Amino acid sequence: KKIVLAYSGGLDTSVIIHWLKENYGSEIIAVTANVGQEDELIGLEEKALKTGASKFYLAEIEEAFVYDSIFPALKAGAVYENKYLLGTATARPIIAKALVDIAKQEGADAICHGCTGKGNDQVRFEMGIKALAPEMDIIAPWRTWDITSREEAIDYAYEHNIPLKISRETNYSKDKNLWHLSHEGLDLENPLNEPKYDQILEMSVTPEQAPDEPTYVSITFDEGIPVAVDGKELDGVSLIKKLNTIGGANAIGILDMIENRLVGMKSRGVYETPGGTLLYFAHEQLEMITLDKETTQYKQDLAQKYANLLYNGQYFTPLKQALDAFVDETQKTVSGTVKLKLYKGNMIAASVDSPFSLYSEAFATFDEDNVYDQNDAAGFINLYGLSSVIQAEMKQKVQFA
Ligand code: ARG
Ligand code: SIN
Repeated sequence: KKIVLAYSGGLDTSVIIHWLKENYGSEIIAVTANVGQEDELIGLEEKALKTGASKFYLAEIEEAFVYDSIFPALKAGAVYENKYLLGTATARPIIAKALVDIAKQEGADAICHGCTGKGNDQVRFEMGIKALAPEMDIIAPWRTWDITSREEAIDYAYEHNIPLKISRETNYSKDKNLWHLSHEGLDLENPLNEPKYDQILEMSVTPEQAPDEPTYVSITFDEGIPVAVDGKELDGVSLIKKLNTIGGANAIGILDMIENRLVGMKSRGVYETPGGTLLYFAHEQLEMITLDKETTQYKQDLAQKYANLLYNGQYFTPLKQALDAFVDETQKTVSGTVKLKLYKGNMIAASVDSPFSLYSEAFATFDEDNVYDQNDAAGFINLYGLSSVIQAEMKQKVQFA
């Protein structure tokens, strides 16, 4: 038997290699997907092999993550429960695809992951695997072994001399990638506790620590895709990294929320999404002048559906594909440049410009114009209000509760 393990080098997957060896005795191929977790990737290969894996892969999927998942979600305006920019949800399907590709290449029988049985990630991984390799067995140790908490997982690691980077105090459940960093667990589990931002923030600073002078940044989009920052063209990965730096330094994109998980319970998390928050805001500013009213409002409904699909692990579905096609059609004119002013956690719109702008100063002006005849409005309102008039006349004639 050959097992491909989704390996992060964190607490869960370190313990899992050891546990798989003891319980399955099979060959373990550790696969880490590079989705931009940077320093977390250091020393992983050595660690995986030392803990019992026979082979290690680093799957380079940063670009796929950005262009196949993040940018489509950005174009759709997908935000889960009006707050969460889906940093983990967008990454999981792309990682699942990398796992499946390697499992097939290696002729493996099973894919194993370290998600708990209480969360969303198990669903996202397994929905991906089912869609891409329905024959593949799935092993999810957290749902079957005797370890019942992160504390016990730490105990297991100590007992079996498995090296860990974390200590008990910093044992937050975290997920880091190019788009975001999430923090869950420990003191955050009680909503009475204000997050210890000074200790947990890694991508950003607190508003208090941000500069006393505002920072201006301009972002240029081409058909809904961000292509340049401050006039400098960048590929998607570099662009997000650049905006993470700028946003992080200005305390942009720190979110503390209680969300509804797919498996039923509410959970509390702190998210850092500095660059992503700038991009969503800028993209929305640009759509404000480039999309017509009906498309804008229809797209807002669709965005919620799209966010739910991503959150709930339905990336590889026909509906998701169809929504992408719709969104792409709407983005044909979403090109232009948005300038933002950043100040201590605030994003303030400064200017917006597009060759496809539908905003017409000639029509909108409060000054004298020669394109709009105010007399037209009287006839318009007569017909627009006709049904109200008929309704009111009926009520005058009959007794109506
Ligand atoms: N609650 C967020 C989500 O469901 C973040 C999950 C983070 N995952 C993790 N394994 N730490 O998308
Ligand atoms: C986990 O339970 O493995 C992490 C949190 C989540 O998946 O929602």
